[in-house]
This record gives sequence, C-alpha cells and structure tokens, in this order.
Amino acid sequence: MIIGNWKMYKTVDEALEFVKTLASLTSKSQVELGIAVPFTALLPVASMVEQLKLSLWVGAQNMHDEAEGAYTGEISARMLRDVGAQFVILGHSERRQHFGESNSFINRKVKRALQEGLHVVLCVGETREEREAGREEAVLQEQLLKSLEGIKNLDEVTLAYEPIWAIGTGKVATPADAQKVHAFCRKLIAKRWGAEIAILYGGSVKPENSGALLCEEDIDGLLVGGASLDPDSFAKIAKEQK
Ligand code: PGA
Repeated sequence: MIIGNWKMYKTVDEALEFVKTLASLTSKSQVELGIAVPFTALLPVASMVEQLKLSLWVGAQNMHDEAEGAYTGEISARMLRDVGAQFVILGHSERRQHFGESNSFINRKVKRALQEGLHVVLCVGETREEREAGREEAVLQEQLLKSLEGIKNLDEVTLAYEPIWAIGTGKVATPADAQKVHAFCRKLIAKRWGAEIAILYGGSVKPENSGALLCEEDIDGLLVGGASLDPDSFAKIAKEQK
C-alpha cells in the first residue's frame, strides 16, 4: 500500500491533472494506491476516481473529533464521507507539532473516524532528540497505546511510522532502522490487541530509496509526502513491488 500525503499543496485543477496523469502511468500497477488530498480537492478528486473507475483510494489529512457543533473552521468525519473520502490520516507529526494535538485528542478522532466508517491511517514517530536518547520505543509505545486506547477492533486501522527527523528533511531512516521499529510496533499490537495490521513507513521516501525500504519484512507500504506531489515520482514508487 502506497499513500501520498499532499499536505497543503494543489488547487482543484492541479489535483485533477495529477489524477489523470497518475492513472495513465499506473494502469497496470498491482499496488494499492491512495492519496490524501486537501479538503477542497476531495469532492472533485473522488468524483473523477469514480467516473474513470480508477482503483485509487481517496482520503483526507485531518478531521475534528466531534460529530458536529460550533467549531468554526472545522470539518467532521461525516462531512468527509459525504464528499467521498474513504480514509483519513490522523496524528501526523505536523498536526502534533504545529497544532498541539495530543494523544487523547487523536484518540477521540480515531474513534469518531471509525464510527463514521472511515479507514484510519494513524501516524506515530519520535523526534531526533528522543532517538538520540534511546527513547524511541518508549515514545512510540505511548503514542500507540494512547491513540488507540479503548479501540477493540483494528481492522480499519493502518499504522504509519514516521520519524519526525526524517519528514521533509531528506534524511530517510535506514531500511534496517525502520524495520526494527516496525517489528517493535507489530509485536506491541499483537500483544495488546492480538491483531495484525499494515504498517507503513514515511519520511523522505523517494523513488531512489523506496525499493530498499519495501524489501524489509515488516514494512508493508509507504506514506509519501514531497515525492507524491509529482505523478512521475509517485508512479515510480508505486511500481516497486512488496
Ligand atoms: P516527506 O513527508 O515524504 O516529504 O518526508 C512524509 C509525511 O509527512 O507524510
């Protein structure tokens, strides 16, 4: 599974152009592909995907935890479903860092998203300082357990390990380092939930490093930021086989 996270990029026209180009480049792709687009592009992109019968998952990058209410400027899970979103990215480090999102807030969002029928891509990851202090596993364990607290069924949850020091920095984790963390998360989930879920790696993924990352046993897919904005580079990553 390869998911693109566009962040705050692309107008509606740019988004539709991207989808058309990507469709022509990946018509034979065996990989499950998804794009998390800005709110404004959800409806047009989801409509185009339906119209052209593309196998492309369309999702959002955030949502509010309440069902509805007086929350100026916010978007609910139901609104996302209404415009064709199938999944939502929650807990991205940019939301945690720039918008002060806590594990408990993220936990409420995960619950709401699942309740409304959205698949959740939950992001976790440590800072450079936490890694240097050898605390990455403790940090990830806390993020994971708190963000998923009280959730019994993980069938509609995908995890994304995104070390913060690797996001948008060009400093990708080595496949071996990422594998170690993925194996840790997989074991933790098996122990706590008795479940097996897909775990994606994210952070400076490019066509040049995607193949080596996917070779690792516990890296089930990729969450791609910068390199997902260009259909050519995204299609190249999509051609890597797990
Ligand atoms: P990046 O972003 O690939 O540009 O590092 C990844 C992400 O934030 O999901």
